[in-house]
Amino acid sequence: MNTALLSEIQAKKDQIRKLEREISRLENAEFISDSEKNEDNLYELIFRQMQDAYILVDSDYLYIDSNINAKKLFRELYDFEKGQRITENMYSLFSDGADDCWLGNSYYEKKVVKIKKDNRVMGYAMLLDDDTDLQTKVLEKTLHIQLVQDSIITGMASVVESRDNSTGGHIMRTKKVVQIFAEKLLDYTEEFGISIEFLRNVVKSAPMHDIGKIAVDDVVLRKPGRFTDEEYQKMKAHSGAGAEMLKKILSEVDNREFVTIAVNVAGSHHERWDGKGYPKGIKGEEIPLEARIMALADVFDALVSKRCYKEAYGYDRAFRIIEEGTGTQFDPSLVPLFIECRKKLEKLYDEMD
Ligand SMILES: [Fe+2]
Repeated sequence: MNTALLSEIQAKKDQIRKLEREISRLENAEFISDSEKNEDNLYELIFRQMQDAYILVDSDYLYIDSNINAKKLFRELYDFEKGQRITENMYSLFSDGADDCWLGNSYYEKKVVKIKKDNRVMGYAMLLDDDTDLQTKVLEKTLHIQLVQDSIITGMASVVESRDNSTGGHIMRTKKVVQIFAEKLLDYTEEFGISIEFLRNVVKSAPMHDIGKIAVDDVVLRKPGRFTDEEYQKMKAHSGAGAEMLKKILSEVDNREFVTIAVNVAGSHHERWDGKGYPKGIKGEEIPLEARIMALADVFDALVSKRCYKEAYGYDRAFRIIEEGTGTQFDPSLVPLFIECRKKLEKLYDEMD
């Protein structure tokens, strides 16, 4: 976040703290009746200083007073008389317990304070501080940061792709496969104990699954044909290397759930359900769910795509291989759901041809 925005947030915080001090003075002050009001300049002072919209009601939510900013916000207040019942809308703002709200297109920080006298609640004051500009800026910045992050991710992924000539388009295709699979898993969030946010993060992480290939020697990476054992070992190092790289690259990212998922996807997408995968040989649910999801998308794409060592397999053959991998290579609870995506996946690949 840039310094101008940070100092603006700091200024807002200072303003809020100042306001809170004023509120606590108001709370501690005796509840001031109309006749006393003129004599007590504290109330006047606080009230005049309020840049916020301010509405005061008694303990039955009957109207007492409001300032000009509140009247601009709720035009009906211009005609309100003391003792009048406030509108439903105002009442819900007083009582919903939220500390912010949108009114029209504006975002307000909201504070409702009890006015007490001799430990009895005499009324309530509501303060609404227009934070629209700040909120908009924060949203814009967040969006910008996300866009930058996404383009860095896509950029890094295409660096890998440009070096690894055997897999043309694999990275973006697997992202689309994960996307389709994630849409299916949306109906099973409870069963898997996951959230929509989790699935969104898996999709976002997918293009980085092979990022560790940056660390693999060109001779190995670009070799047409099958690897020797030694070359295969070097190639296998890409998943662990990818996880380590992402930990460093994403260390400043605030969204830690995303970082964990991205690291797990890169680090564990070659693990197998039966423990015979790499790099750690972990098995079953020890393998993070996001990596088990990625594994299916990764293998499926490799099967239906042409590689230098093989032709593209037909859908029947590819899905049969996936099904045969149930409980050995793949999570048995995921495979049937992946197969249910067949129609959409075929459409995706047919349209790409
Ligand atoms: Fe990989």
